Amino acid sequence: MSGNLAAILVRVFSGGRCSTSAVVWSLVGCLIMLHLYSLARQKDGVRGELHLGMSHHPQFRELEAVEEENIQMPPPRKRSPRAAKRRPKRPTTIIDEFLDENSQLRNMFFPDHKTAIDPMKDAGNDSSYYHPGRIWLDTDGNPIQAHGGGILFDQKSKTYYWYGEYKDGPTYHAHKKGAARVDIIGVGCYSSKDLWTWKNEGIVLAAEETKETHDLYKSNVLERPKVIYNDKTGKFVMWMHIDDSNYTKASVGVAVSDYPTGPFDYLYSKRPHDFESRDMTIFKDDDGVAYLIYSSDDNSELHVGPLTADYLDVSNVMRRILVGQHREAPALFKHQGTYYMITSGCTGWAPNEALAHAADSIMGPWETMGNPCVGGNKMFRLTTFFAQSTFVVPVPGFPGSYIFMADRWNPADLRDSRYVWLPLIVGGPADQPLDYNFGFPLWSRVSIYWHRKWKLPQGWSGLK
Ligand SMILES: *[C@@H]1O[C@H](CO)[C@@H](O)[C@H](O)[C@H]1NC(C)=O
Ligand SMILES: *[C@@H]1O[C@H](CO)[C@@H](O)[C@H](O)[C@H]1NC(C)=O
Repeated sequence: MSGNLAAILVRVFSGGRCSTSAVVWSLVGCLIMLHLYSLARQKDGVRGELHLGMSHHPQFRELEAVEEENIQMPPPRKRSPRAAKRRPKRPTTIIDEFLDENSQLRNMFFPDHKTAIDPMKDAGNDSSYYHPGRIWLDTDGNPIQAHGGGILFDQKSKTYYWYGEYKDGPTYHAHKKGAARVDIIGVGCYSSKDLWTWKNEGIVLAAEETKETHDLYKSNVLERPKVIYNDKTGKFVMWMHIDDSNYTKASVGVAVSDYPTGPFDYLYSKRPHDFESRDMTIFKDDDGVAYLIYSSDDNSELHVGPLTADYLDVSNVMRRILVGQHREAPALFKHQGTYYMITSGCTGWAPNEALAHAADSIMGPWETMGNPCVGGNKMFRLTTFFAQSTFVVPVPGFPGSYIFMADRWNPADLRDSRYVWLPLIVGGPADQPLDYNFGFPLWSRVSIYWHRKWKLPQGWSGLK
């Protein structure tokens, strides 16, 4: 296309006498060609089909219904210090309510134990339903402790394993300026066949109680553990964010086990590619190559790079992505050859707006599509339903359908942070078409649908 364009321009300008109508017609020609180019890109790409808001699967259509929420704000009054301390950029009084332990809306954000989801109790018609934000009990009747987590599907045992931060300890501030924290207890692991009933498999990587110089010494920080399986070595490899209580170490840690249920041997921590690394995730591609994605340079950008073949280290290849966008909490997935990522902004434990990104190559360039949240109300959508992304699980047998996993952090009592799981569906045009694409969506839209309660569709049989 650029060759043709150059030829026209040369013809127009080379005569020395520049005819206005020739210029106008050339520009019209260029626009038509750009337009045809966009159409061609639409047609030849595998993601070219337009779904116009419908998923491939009628079973998921119900989950694409927009569910509205209407919140009655209580009258203004004196705020708790935690809520008062925040000076938000825009008026977000509902976030003040969210952060206020004494808010009249507290039970909406953090419903009490009476409404807990208990898969062991005969839930009747409520069986298999996710209730985002409610307390979720394991098969022993205890609240699940797997925050900032991720899910591994083990092919051999046909079992899902959910790993996350086990935070069942007191929340405190290490010093006046320190963030709310819980001492490291370890990485919790839960197993399930149906993604709803979870059995506690114990702490698979435990804190170090005595050796103060150890990365896992309890007063340090262990966040966002993720596990993948290496087909070549037969090992389960865990990556996690390792830090000191002031978040100045900014490193990744690596642990390894022969079994999904551990125990994991902690190997070491490092700054990948010699850069700061805070929120992170790992992603195993179809070809077996795994990648580390981490927030770096004061969380102003993300870095992505392949791991070594044994997954125990990073290789020396790295790309900076989403530079200057200040994103964290990355969660990656892939659909029909396109990579997608959900991220959050950086506002500590307070919720903020999620963004969806897409790329043809995991190494970038990545483009930001916009806010994927649908339903609830405006404040729900501007706060990722009062939660922060952590992982995206594919629903087997339903390409393009996923479970979006997020954490509703409770900074007053972090162990009581809740899980917000919602259906995520890829399909339909992007909501914010890219300027240079002349209104034709380059990427499929990624939508996360709010539901007070929902379950996976009938055709979902647990495991295939
Ligand atoms: C459960 O479902 C059955 C059959 O659809 C219905 O008759 C019953 O009222 C429902 N029970 C509750 C508690 O919703
Ligand atoms: C964290 O910062 C505080 C205050 O600046 C300081 O007193 C403390 O020693 C620091 N802790 C670590 C582990 O660096």
